[in-house]
Amino acid sequence: MNPPVLVSDRLCFHPWEAEDFPLFTSLHSDPEVQHFLQMGDPPWDEAYLRAKFADFLADYTAHGWTKFKVTDRQGTFLGRAGFGWFPETDELELGYSFKRALWGRGYATEAAYALLGWIYKAKPIDHVIGFAVAEHAASRRVLEKAGMSLTGIRDVDGIPNAFYRHDRPV
Ligand SMILES: CC(C)(COP(=O)(O)OP(=O)(O)OC[C@H]1O[C@@H](n2cnc3c(N)ncnc32)[C@H](O)[C@@H]1OP(=O)(O)O)[C@@H](O)C(=O)NCCC(=O)NCCS
Repeated sequence: MNPPVLVSDRLCFHPWEAEDFPLFTSLHSDPEVQHFLQMGDPPWDEAYLRAKFADFLADYTAHGWTKFKVTDRQGTFLGRAGFGWFPETDELELGYSFKRALWGRGYATEAAYALLGWIYKAKPIDHVIGFAVAEHAASRRVLEKAGMSLTGIRDVDGIPNAFYRHDRPV
């Protein structure tokens, strides 16, 4: 496994490797995980998943950030968390997904907090956005707990989403 780029109390953030595709697929083939993620998207079939996974590999190679593979300190796969480019507004976007059995343990909050601390050291960007389907209370709570501020509700692919922003600390 690639060494972690970032380590927090319980989590390690690794660049993906090609052989990780089955882990990525296992996460995103759970209908509960997909419930809010897939709204407004075409079905996340194998072709869609392969393209998304390829983007994650390419983002890390090109930029040094991606939606990293997240493991525990023993190397067990937990989910994914990190950054992607939101082309509609040309902004860096924080995102995360964890395996269903692991929800409610504070992993997404820990990930968001660690990633926001890391990105401003790693890259000369001045802010990060995050968004979630407006009715996705758990994800909105994570963005808020990580210190992000609500900037408005806007449609993404016809679905109302709550947008948040986090500015580089001064
Ligand atoms: C959203 C997600 C990442 C949250 O991960 P998590 O590790 O369970 O999150 P945390 O434990 O750090 O925090 C969740 C917070 O939401 C709260 N919450 C959970 N379900 C909730 C609900 N239905 N209504 C209101 N609050 C809720 C929790 O109580 C917790 O807040 P608290 O610490 O103040 O009690 C996880 O549910 C997930 O992977 N979902 C599927 C993929 C997804 O939707 N990703 C986000 C796309 S925007």
